[in-house]
Amino acid sequence: RKEIGIGLLGFGVVGSGVATILHKHREDLQHKLGVPVRIKRVLIKNKEKERDTELPKEAFTDQLEDLLNDDAIDFIVEVFGGTDDAKTAIERSLKAGKGVVTANKDVMAVYGKELLALADENSCDLFYEASVGGGIPLIRTLEDGLASDRISSLLGIVNGTTNFILTKMKEEKKTYEDALAEATALGYAEADPSADVDGIDAARKMAILASLSFSSEVQLDDVFVRGMSVIEDGDLELAEQFGYTIKMAGSAKKDENGIEVAVEPVFVKNEHPLASVNNEFNAVYVYGDAVGETMFYGPGAGSLPTATSVTSDIVAACRNLLLGVNGKRIHSYQYERKVKSDEQ
Ligand code: HSE
Repeated sequence: RKEIGIGLLGFGVVGSGVATILHKHREDLQHKLGVPVRIKRVLIKNKEKERDTELPKEAFTDQLEDLLNDDAIDFIVEVFGGTDDAKTAIERSLKAGKGVVTANKDVMAVYGKELLALADENSCDLFYEASVGGGIPLIRTLEDGLASDRISSLLGIVNGTTNFILTKMKEEKKTYEDALAEATALGYAEADPSADVDGIDAARKMAILASLSFSSEVQLDDVFVRGMSVIEDGDLELAEQFGYTIKMAGSAKKDENGIEVAVEPVFVKNEHPLASVNNEFNAVYVYGDAVGETMFYGPGAGSLPTATSVTSDIVAACRNLLLGVNGKRIHSYQYERKVKSDEQ
């Protein structure tokens, strides 16, 4: 094999970040893998749009078939975002025998089980590290790093936009609207930011993390969600007065009765490490029976941090291809349901 070819679906905040990292780190990546990794084609909606990129104009196409029928493309990297088109494109790629790397929490939180099974059926890899926690390697940590432990609970901040808004409102006394506009301009917010502020983005991520942590099927609908709108005028000041900070937090726990997962604004004592997780940063505490308390912290949104996780999945997919073990992964995802709402 002389090189590994990639087909990129989408060239927005994350997609352009992936192209930047693959270009900027190309020598390091070649050194690590022994072969170069190249983006062969990019699927976009508007071919005519001017793009600031090293990629040639001919690489851009608006036809998915151009990527799926190209033998020089070994696997597909989906960074469209959204649900329907992305899910269809992932399915078509897997059915065409091309492995997929995706950053798509919308799709993985709802269709993860189905798509992982489809990947297995087609002997393809399906990696999704960037779906949770931007640049923090959380999926791999839960699947591999803590594979030997019995995880009992998670607590964390998994949405960069709401954390950015709450930080700016507290530290710089910005209005909610100004802080949200800034988060959008910096590429942190979703295309429709109501997913961020209503807690749905965080709920998707908690469903993914809880499924992996507890080797169970936790669906988006299983997550209790309360968005930022329940925070009233004066709440931030009140919290400050009593030595607390308001954070949008995700929690998940498993006990003998089942699993409970929630996303909601909470009062965090200022001495607690989560209180000083600011701006677009995320942090997740994982409590394991044997390891005890661990915390994972880093940038949770934004182009290059999220693209770092996507590109690390690209490296993992390349390694599997080079070893001939692509599609031969044992997932920690066991599809039994132990969620409390099931039993009620
Ligand atoms: N809108 C998401 C966030 C992007 O703010 O966390 C990263 O998943």
